[in-house]
This record gives sequence, C-alpha cells and structure tokens, in this order.
Amino acid sequence: MKKITVLTAALLATTFTLPAAAQLSVEDQITARKAAYQFMSWNMGKIKAQAVDGDVEFNVDQMKAAANAIAAVANSGMGALYSPDSSLDKADNTRLKPDFFQNPDRAREVGMNFGREANKLQDVAASGDRAALARQFSALGQACKACHDDFRAEK
Ligand code: HEC
Repeated sequence: MKKITVLTAALLATTFTLPAAAQLSVEDQITARKAAYQFMSWNMGKIKAQAVDGDVEFNVDQMKAAANAIAAVANSGMGALYSPDSSLDKADNTRLKPDFFQNPDRAREVGMNFGREANKLQDVAASGDRAALARQFSALGQACKACHDDFRAEK
C-alpha cells in the first residue's frame, strides 16, 4: 500500500513537472517551429526532385530517409510549439495568425490531416513506388497548404 502511494506520488510529480520543465519560451517556440517547417521543406524538395520532377536520379534509400524525417517531425508533438501567446498579434518574428486559437476545431483538423498524410508518405516511400510517392507528395503538399491558407499570414 505504502509502495503504491509512493509510486503514485512519483508518477504525479513526473506528470506535473515534466511539461513545465520542457516548456519553451514563446521566442524559442517560434524559432523551433520555423526550423521544423524549414527542415520538412528541405526534405519535401528532395522528394520533388527525385519522385516528381526527375531532375535527380531516383534513390529509394534517400526517399525513405526524407519521408522518415518528415514523419518524425510531424509526429514530434509540434502542438507544444503553439502557445496562445505565440501568434503575430502578440509576438514578433512570426506569421502565425491568431485565428489558429480562435478556431481550434479547424486547427485540429488541418493538424490531424497533415499527420495522417505525413505517415502515409513514410509508408509509400518504404514501398519504393516512385509514381505513388509522387502522388503522395502532392497529397501532403495539399495538407501543408491547407494550414498555410488558413493560419499563416502573407509575408
Ligand atoms: C498546422 C499548420 C501547418 C502545417 C500542417 C504546415 N505548416 Fe508550414 N507553417 C505554418 C505556420 C503557422 C507557419 C509560420 C510559422 C511562424 O512564422 O511562426 C509556417 C511556416 C512555414 C515555412 C516558413 C518557415 C520560416 O522559416 O518562416 C515553411 C517553409 C513551411 N511552413 C513549410 C511547410 C511544409 C513543407 C509543410 C508540410 C510538409 C508545412 N509547412 C505544414 C503552419 C503549418
């Protein structure tokens, strides 16, 4: 009984202190999310060059690595980089529209859709099917764009 209580207390302590300890400042959230999008964009560029445009020779291992990197970012819990104080009406150096917090259902929808398409990209890349990868590149690109259309301000 005592053991259980101690364990429960320890678990509760972990639950409540971990997120606080891992919480980034608003500035760092903005830096990290921009870097995450740049990194995905770089990897999307590799897939475009090899699977869509064909101006670089198709290399299955490189396509897998690119898709894995994108999926890893998509599944990393990026929601933690979106605190309500981090939109462009409250913070500097960001293009995040406040609508993101005013329309949480839509934000969740585009976020979930993006995660689903990124995971699918990973599966398709693993199959080595170039035409299917080109199609999935386009599907994921649409998911990126859907969020930008609603929640990213013009430059
Ligand atoms: C859930 C919404 C959402 C999804 C999904 C999304 N983006 Fe974005 N993206 C944003 C927002 C918001 C910004 C602006 C971030 C900021 O300025 O703080 C942004 C910024 C960017 C930037 C500019 C980063 C910079 O340095 O300013 C690039 C490039 C980008 N996204 C590419 C992508 C690509 C590629 C995908 C899909 C693989 C994607 N995004 C998916 C919302 C999204």
